[in-house]
Amino acid sequence: MSSNVKLDLDSARLAEQYDRLGTRQFNHGLGLLDALDVRDGDAVLDIGCGTGLLTEAAALRAGTKGEVLGIDPLPLRVERATQRARGRFKASVGRAEELHDIPDAHYDVVYFNSVIHWVADQPRALQHAFRVLKPGGRVGFTTMAKDVPHDLHLVLRELIDSEPAWQHASVGSPNQLTRDQTASLLTDAGFDVTLNEIREFDDAFASADDVITFSQASSFGNFLSALPDRELNRLRERLGDTLEARRGPRGIELIRRLIFATGRKPLTE
Ligand SMILES: C[S@@+](CC[C@H](N)C(=O)[O-])C[C@H]1O[C@@H](n2cnc3c(N)ncnc32)[C@H](O)[C@@H]1O
Repeated sequence: MSSNVKLDLDSARLAEQYDRLGTRQFNHGLGLLDALDVRDGDAVLDIGCGTGLLTEAAALRAGTKGEVLGIDPLPLRVERATQRARGRFKASVGRAEELHDIPDAHYDVVYFNSVIHWVADQPRALQHAFRVLKPGGRVGFTTMAKDVPHDLHLVLRELIDSEPAWQHASVGSPNQLTRDQTASLLTDAGFDVTLNEIREFDDAFASADDVITFSQASSFGNFLSALPDRELNRLRERLGDTLEARRGPRGIELIRRLIFATGRKPLTE
């Protein structure tokens, strides 16, 4: 499987689809805001904000005395986030590894919801998060767990391994972490770890096509990229058959497993 993340595969269609289907990330993201205790008056930085669904929820919690900024490398998603904001938060194009424009010790909360597994230089991203947080500030992320994969990824790995022509298919999110790696990432950046656990989410999809559309929109085009059309169609067909076999009363049922991690910047360094 390829480990390259491409940021130039996004399109207006994928951004629009993510706006509709990203409710799954939004719902687990609310759990992250709870874990981080985002509250009235907080200054919050949402790294990898996408189309700004969760940024909006953070802004509602931070209230008029708070301040919320979302950054994301994909201009089409930032455009949607800015439209959604209607002045209640700001959104701009930027990457987790390059927060140079953001002053030191400015934020109470920095979070990455379903983002860290896309970031190539995770230590650098966490070092920046540490720098821009006030002493006592909270950092948090949700991310795919390398050692306890999503059901969909287990199914796909089996399919991809069964066919030499599919070896280069990317399921996306190449920089997944284990809980041990999560703890090291936080402590190496200087944080005290306050939460590091797996949570499960029981998803249901109406059809195999819905699973694929959701995955492509969530991965800004990286999911199953790098396959020629003919092989992509064959893989989609086999995936469809395999997923149909899992249909239950709620539809195609797939469990997502995510690491929920939070940390605190010590009051004195
Ligand atoms: C699955 S979406 C999550 C969006 C949003 N956080 C949410 O909860 O809906 C992953 C996001 O990570 C962003 N991303 C990818 N690489 C990134 C990087 N190096 N720095 C910051 N964001 C990145 C993508 O542009 C995309 O919007």
